Amino acid sequence: MTTVVVLFLLIWFIRRLYRIGSREPSLPPGPPTIPLLGNLNIFPAEYAHYKFTVWAREYGDIYSLKIGPSTVVVITSMDAVKELMEKCSGSTADRPPNYIADNVSGGLNMVLARYGNEWRILRKTAHAILTPNAVTAHLPIQVAEATQVMYDLLNSPERFYNHIRRYSNSVIMSVLYGKRCPRYETREATSFFEAQHLWELALEPGAHPPIDLLPFLRHVPRRWAPWKILCDKTRKAQRELYFGLLDECNQRVQQGDENGCYMEEIIKRQDEFGLDRELRG
Ligand SMILES: *[C@@H]1O[C@H](CO)[C@@H](O)[C@H](O)[C@H]1NC(C)=O
Repeated sequence: MTTVVVLFLLIWFIRRLYRIGSREPSLPPGPPTIPLLGNLNIFPAEYAHYKFTVWAREYGDIYSLKIGPSTVVVITSMDAVKELMEKCSGSTADRPPNYIADNVSGGLNMVLARYGNEWRILRKTAHAILTPNAVTAHLPIQVAEATQVMYDLLNSPERFYNHIRRYSNSVIMSVLYGKRCPRYETREATSFFEAQHLWELALEPGAHPPIDLLPFLRHVPRRWAPWKILCDKTRKAQRELYFGLLDECNQRVQQGDENGCYMEEIIKRQDEFGLDRELRG
């Protein structure tokens, strides 16, 4: 009798296991799946858009891929994007969780933050510099930096890439933190390029296992998880740079020595926005 029960349970368990990775009937069509992995075995490791286009020709504008027990729905035509992202934005405005981005930024990177209270606060504060009226105030900064970049290009054209990077970084840092990067080697400029490089490395899909699709992977011990060390390093680099700049703005506001940059404005309206030092709402 016990043997029969054990056998029955075993069969039930194997059948259940076997169904992981299979496409639920309610999903859009897609490539045939295999047990456990779904489509993970044929998921392109790089240049995914080529393969996605091939599948779109076969399965249509909207198709689905199974990554183990999780589902990816691929939308490949402008019409379908408009229909789903614009007309149904109420239910599609959020983005999927991004464990790496959230771990590094504490969920406060505006580009990758999930739709919610914090995202709304970030958008509200960004509005302060991005209205048509506000952007005219940035024009003198752009003109001044453009003058320097032309001078630099004339003098050392072989370093054109660095000149252009310095230019864009200096414009943005001046607008946001009221601090120029007069040279490519300016400390904040090199810190930014380093932090940005780490950030790109950390976010690259190949830099870590698919943590968002298989969440148990986040419990892999540190010594087998180089991506955790990369996350910590990136977070540290970003925080050192941005809190350093924030402190300088704070100091100017306290001393009444403001230069009119974005972050000074945010600091002064901190209570109105309901923000603390972490810019958390
Ligand atoms: C990021 O992950 C590490 C574990 O790797 C954890 O100790 C840390 O608290 C996380 N940080 C945030 C901001 O979630």
